[in-house]
Amino acid sequence: MQMTMNMETGVAHRKVHSLVSCKVLNLYSGLGGNRELWESCDVTSVEYDDAIAEVYAAKFPQDEIVVGDALGYVQSHFKEFDFIWASPPCPTHGQYRHNVGVLGKGFAPVIPEMTSLYGLIVFLRTYFAGSWVVEM
Ligand SMILES: C[S@@+](CC[C@H](N)C(=O)[O-])C[C@H]1O[C@@H](n2cnc3c(N)ncnc32)[C@H](O)[C@@H]1O
Repeated sequence: MQMTMNMETGVAHRKVHSLVSCKVLNLYSGLGGNRELWESCDVTSVEYDDAIAEVYAAKFPQDEIVVGDALGYVQSHFKEFDFIWASPPCPTHGQYRHNVGVLGKGFAPVIPEMTSLYGLIVFLRTYFAGSWVVEM
């Protein structure tokens, strides 16, 4: 296993070599930033925005891409996968909203939407037998 750091974002990526023939579910796949270092695995990605899913599909033509709701998909299909990665959206609670929106521009703070984060964690911890990551 190898760790790399994206110097622009400060995000550490772990290069996973052990996913040979693994079935991976990539939830909230966006443009596939987290998917870039995955090798030798079958990936199904779920993204609900058509335009974003199209860009993802062009970058990773070998992946299956489902255009739809991530929570609905994982609830019905989690048993089909060995590894699940999720990057839930964070517009209600991300540092950008807090620092730029609330502190910088005077936006009103909102109660964070946590189903896609903690709801998913509780679901996977309780029902999913494989390995998983939910990034915050
Ligand atoms: C934090 S971004 C994902 C970033 C991605 N991991 C990457 O590295 O490029 C969250 C993504 O989830 C998508 N999204 C938001 N709500 C969704 C939902 N209910 N189902 C599926 N995708 C959703 C957004 O359109 C956005 O592309």
